[in-house]
Formats: sequence, structure tokens, C-alpha cells
Amino acid sequence: MYEFHKVKIKNIQQETNDAVIWTLDIPVHFKSTFIWQAGQHLTFIKIVNGEEIRRSYSIFNPANEDDIQVLIKKVEDGLFSVPAQSEYQVGDKVEVMAPTGHFIMVPQDDKTYVLFAAGSGITPIMGMIHEVLNNSNSHINLYYGNSTVESTLLKTQLADLKDQYPNRLSISYFLSQEPIDVELYAGRINAEKVTKIFNNELQQLDIAGYFLCGPGGMIDEVKSVLAEFDVDKSIIHSEQFLSEGQVMSEKKKTATLDSGVMVTIDGVTSRYEIKEGEDKTLLDAALDAKIKMPYSCKAGVCATCRCRLVEGEVEMLNNYSLEDWELEKGYVLSCQSLPKTKKIVIDYDG
Ligand code: FES
Repeated sequence: MYEFHKVKIKNIQQETNDAVIWTLDIPVHFKSTFIWQAGQHLTFIKIVNGEEIRRSYSIFNPANEDDIQVLIKKVEDGLFSVPAQSEYQVGDKVEVMAPTGHFIMVPQDDKTYVLFAAGSGITPIMGMIHEVLNNSNSHINLYYGNSTVESTLLKTQLADLKDQYPNRLSISYFLSQEPIDVELYAGRINAEKVTKIFNNELQQLDIAGYFLCGPGGMIDEVKSVLAEFDVDKSIIHSEQFLSEGQVMSEKKKTATLDSGVMVTIDGVTSRYEIKEGEDKTLLDAALDAKIKMPYSCKAGVCATCRCRLVEGEVEMLNNYSLEDWELEKGYVLSCQSLPKTKKIVIDYDG
């Protein structure tokens, strides 16, 4: 499941000045591997100056179509996103892992789903919009922030869906760097705006889920308002958007004891060690021991490295992705975990 596969770029389309859409042609023999759920992402691997880099991009087209589409927005000096804009041709092969990710949606009927997105955060949200519209009779309220109309990603696809489903899809666009007539929609999505939206538009609705994707600041502000209105935390889901190369606040620590780690992955169990004083997470030490582990951001954001802690205790340095229910079930991020006990058992399969 965590192997990389070579797939062909079937089409490259310019979305905005600094973003392209890649359509990937999934060969018939990989189809069963490349099944995905709305909200999941692909992890790409590339060798740059002899070093392996990994980058994740959310899938935005309807789940389990024949091809997969990802949108890659250029980030200054991005080792993957810059060449992705112009150095690849249709027919080139890229190496990619099967879809993963836990920011997913399975819609119910007769409900409303409330989606907040900013910038590239629209990509997993777009997959969810398709999912609700194609596989339920529920409604969607989308609140979508960008700097300008021109930089708004996937606006044509959203307009087409709005035409197709005028009564089930409501979209409110916010612009932070361009004048807009209605004051509510001028500027970034923030707590004050969300409070107004909640009072005017959401309070009366039967909402089955809130899904938020964008920068951490937006997610925090939306969540704080939802908490003030006593919205049940279990229906709020979020994925923080991390620009390529962006580093989250990094807490650095070292292991405080020698620890033996057993890891099960794709049915194979391996053992490795972390020594006291080593500045290595469970993931780093496994990679040093040449054990193939799934990961992408190494920053606690993408959850590609999520595994279940079966035995022992760890300290997680950062967690920007696991929700409370996942923590309660014993899931941890191996890229952020240091051992706290002499024996650690982790499992990627269960
Ligand atoms: S690799 Fe992204 S959260 Fe661990």
C-alpha cells in the first residue's frame, strides 16, 4: 500500500498564472490500488540533487473516476511545485504513492455540510463537494477565501457545479486583496465574519459536518467560533494547508531513554532502536534503519505517517492533523513521536 508507483501524466492544464492541474493516467493494473475517498491526497516522490523529497497534493476530482487530478500551486523556490509548472510534459512518468489521508467525508442524506476553504485548501474540499452532490441529496454551504478573483483556484469548476446544482450548492467568495461590494466578503475569513455567518445562515440548519481546509490561522478562528456556539467537536474536521517548504513551529527534543521499536507495515514486522540522547523520531530512526515507512511532510500536518501505538508510550512534539477521536484510539504521528518507554510497538495496518 505504501509503495511508490510510476504513473503517466495524461494532461497538464494551466489553472492560474501560478498553478497547474495534472491529470494522471492510472493504468488498469493499478486501479484497485488507486481507490480513493473524497478528501484524500497523493504523495509524490522526486530526487533533487541526490536527495529524495516528498510532496502531497489533494485529489480534487470525483472519487474513483478513471483518472486522478491534482492541482499544484507554485511556491517560491518550491523543489516540486516550481518544476511542476513547466518542466513536465504530457506522457512523462511521475512516482506516486496510492491515495492516503484521514480528512475524508462520507455524506449522509437530507443534511447540510458546511465547508470553509482558503487558497489551495479548496482541493480536498472540492473532492468533498463532488461527493456530496454525486452521492447524497444533501446541501453544501461553501465559504471560500482568496486574495483576488484571478488567483481563485477551481473557480470555473465551481461555477459549473453551481449551474448544475443551484439549489444544493451555495458558495460565498471572500477576497482579501481586491475590492468587493459586500463588506462581509471583503478580507480574510476570520472569527468576526464566521460569527455573522453562523448567526445569519447556519444556526437553523441541520448540519452533519464542518470541513475546514486552509492556513492554521483560518482554521483556528473558525473553530473558536464554532466552540462559542457549542457545535459538537465530533462533527468538525480540519486539515491544515502547508505550503511547500513551509516549516511549522518546530519543537526539538531528544530521546530520554534507549528504546526498541517494533513496527508492522503491510504485514511485515521489523525492529529497530532509538538510543538515549538521539534527536530522532520514530520515523527518522526507522528510515535510518532502512525500513520503508510512509511519510510526506515530516511536520505533523499531512498524517501520512499516522500509525497505531499498540504498546508503550510516546511524546508527540507537534500534531496539526490528528483529531481527538484518533488520539483516543491510540493513533500517533510517527514523524513527531519520541519514545517514552523502553518498548514501543506501532502498527500501520490496523
Ligand atoms: S509525515 Fe506528515 S504528519 Fe508525519
